[in-house]
Amino acid sequence: MARDLPDTTPKNPRHVAIIMDGNGRWAQERGRPRLFGHHAGARRVREIVSACPDLGVKYLTIFAFSTENWKRTQTEVAGLMKLFRRYITREAQDLFRTGVRVRFIGDRVRLDEKLVRMMDELELLTAGNDTCHLTIALNYGGRDELTRAAKRLAYEIECGRLTHKEVDAETLARFLDTHVLPDPDLVIRTSGEARISNFLLWQSAYSEYEFIDTLWPDFTKDIFAEVVQSYATRDRRFGAVKV
Ligand code: IPE
Ligand code: IPE
Ligand code: MG
Repeated sequence: MARDLPDTTPKNPRHVAIIMDGNGRWAQERGRPRLFGHHAGARRVREIVSACPDLGVKYLTIFAFSTENWKRTQTEVAGLMKLFRRYITREAQDLFRTGVRVRFIGDRVRLDEKLVRMMDELELLTAGNDTCHLTIALNYGGRDELTRAAKRLAYEIECGRLTHKEVDAETLARFLDTHVLPDPDLVIRTSGEARISNFLLWQSAYSEYEFIDTLWPDFTKDIFAEVVQSYATRDRRFGAVKV
């Protein structure tokens, strides 16, 4: 019976996650400081976000700063934090107007107060939007997210609101920063590195991966469209055998 049904597997990825890598090398190739590359990278974000609706991408999650990126020089870290504030200031109205709902994932505790306030305000401003859901991973690490989730789950048990017998994958996922988001269908990493660098460890268990040589500041909406469209040719089995 089920075999006669049309194939309803969506041909476009509903949720695309991107590890935006290669800003530093892009700047280096031009003999410029790394921050020059980060600024060029930030400009690309607008183009990629605006391309989502036409491509059927309802959710876009972008990796902006990892829990490991604090290991960089103080100049680069401070420059990036300033860039995030500038991005919010410059893009907020446009994101709001174009129906983008913005969320942030990651640990906010280590971020400066002013930036956190701006993040909260942008989330609030765009909370009623539904055209495209943009999630920005800022001070995000998959292990850190899982550790924070485990800690909160343990606390719920300690308080008697949950028993250890009730803990299953679904319960754990409810404690993750991404609890309201579907898992990514496609994860793209630019700049030629074939690793995930602590990004969405839990959520990408069955995601399709695409590693692209292009450095992030050169990643155009045409390249994005090509990668998104190539997703249609993939055969996702989720561990099962198709009959
Ligand atoms: C990605 O570009 C952006 C961040 C990690 C903030 P990089 O800064 O890692 O650029 P490369 O990998 O050094 O070229
Ligand atoms: C991953 O890139 C983090 C972001 C894109 C924000 P990195 O450049 O930090 O990753 P590694 O160090 O090459 O693994
Ligand atoms: Mg890098």
